[in-house]
Amino acid sequence: MKLFIDTANVEHIREINDWGVLSGVTTNPTLASKENRNYRDCVREIAEIVDGPISAEAISCDWHEMVAESKEIAAIADNINVKIPMSTEGLKAIKALSAEGIKTNCTLVFSTNQAMLAAAAGAAYLSPFLGRLDDIGNDGLAILEEIVEVFDLHGIETEVISASLRHPQHVIGSALAGAHISTIPYNVFQQMVNHPLTTIGIEKFLCDFEKIKDL
Ligand code: G3P
Repeated sequence: MKLFIDTANVEHIREINDWGVLSGVTTNPTLASKENRNYRDCVREIAEIVDGPISAEAISCDWHEMVAESKEIAAIADNINVKIPMSTEGLKAIKALSAEGIKTNCTLVFSTNQAMLAAAAGAAYLSPFLGRLDDIGNDGLAILEEIVEVFDLHGIETEVISASLRHPQHVIGSALAGAHISTIPYNVFQQMVNHPLTTIGIEKFLCDFEKIKDL
């Protein structure tokens, strides 16, 4: 399973990219608004930092406008794909963009039926939102497992990006479910790398080395 970061914060992207673990980036308007800067400038900078796929969101509502906007976004850099929301207009836009060779990431997917529709329309990626399903009392991981099972059964090649992840168990569950990609918030990357026994172990090695360093 490839690891993406879910943020528009370029410092966080640089940090996780420097760890050598990052395969791509997803952003959305909510994440971009936290950075308080021009969205397209931000996307351009992210695409310069990370070689892998970068998802940037189109915010138009009519499919013709989505297509026009998506072409502008995709033209920013070769590694950019366009996030299109699951909707009837979104499906039409995905179909048109796919026909022109522009990769899309169908976002705001909350059911296996929505996932099958996005794949059939030609989405290169689709993003089930696990945390938001959990928030309303559904089981996000169970829906992810169902999507992956259906896609495996029918040889559907659309890559599944497990999104809206809130904690490290979501990442493990996504890997076990067979998601192609997990897109992970910066704080969850930090939680993944840290373990109290590792911290204690490093401190003990350093402390014990102090005892012998001058021998
Ligand atoms: O990639 C989707 C993600 O950004 C949504 O996360 O936490 O707003 O549900 P959240």
